[in-house]
Amino acid sequence: MTKKIKLLLSVFLVIVMTSCYYDNAEDLYPVIPDCDTTNVTFGNDIMPIINTNCTGCHSGSAPSANIRLSNYSEIVASANNGGLMGSIKHESGWSPMPKNGNKLGDCTIKKLDTWIAEGTPNN
Ligand code: HEC
Repeated sequence: MTKKIKLLLSVFLVIVMTSCYYDNAEDLYPVIPDCDTTNVTFGNDIMPIINTNCTGCHSGSAPSANIRLSNYSEIVASANNGGLMGSIKHESGWSPMPKNGNKLGDCTIKKLDTWIAEGTPNN
């Protein structure tokens, strides 16, 4: 094997090996102590989170921003257009929610993320 091929091979190997670095699960999904997301359901987790933090303003006949979050289909609609997590995670381009309140806790946000990643089941 010529030196040139060896060099090319090692460069190639380095690229292959380093390209996987950011796929580390713990970097992508940091572990939150005491946060159990193994059994997140709409009824036991998601609806209570929204009821506690959001429906005070986003329900009834004149909901804030004309966004109602009082049942499954309304919450799914907001999840699907990005507004739900954009506002809860305080992402740029979205009004931070809950309005004038504290940002939801990491574990609460992770449960919402988990439910959405699982395909927003109505369970
Ligand atoms: C105290 C009232 C209040 C609470 C509580 C509240 N919101 Fe809002 N929300 C508003 C108002 C008012 C707006 C209109 C935009 C603004 O004034 O910032 C809004 C806008 C939004 C929007 C649209 C944001 C955009 O940039 O298009 C979303 C999505 C939203 N709220 C979701 C939520 C969620 C999810 C919660 C619970 C975590 C929540 N809101 C809690 C009052 C509230």
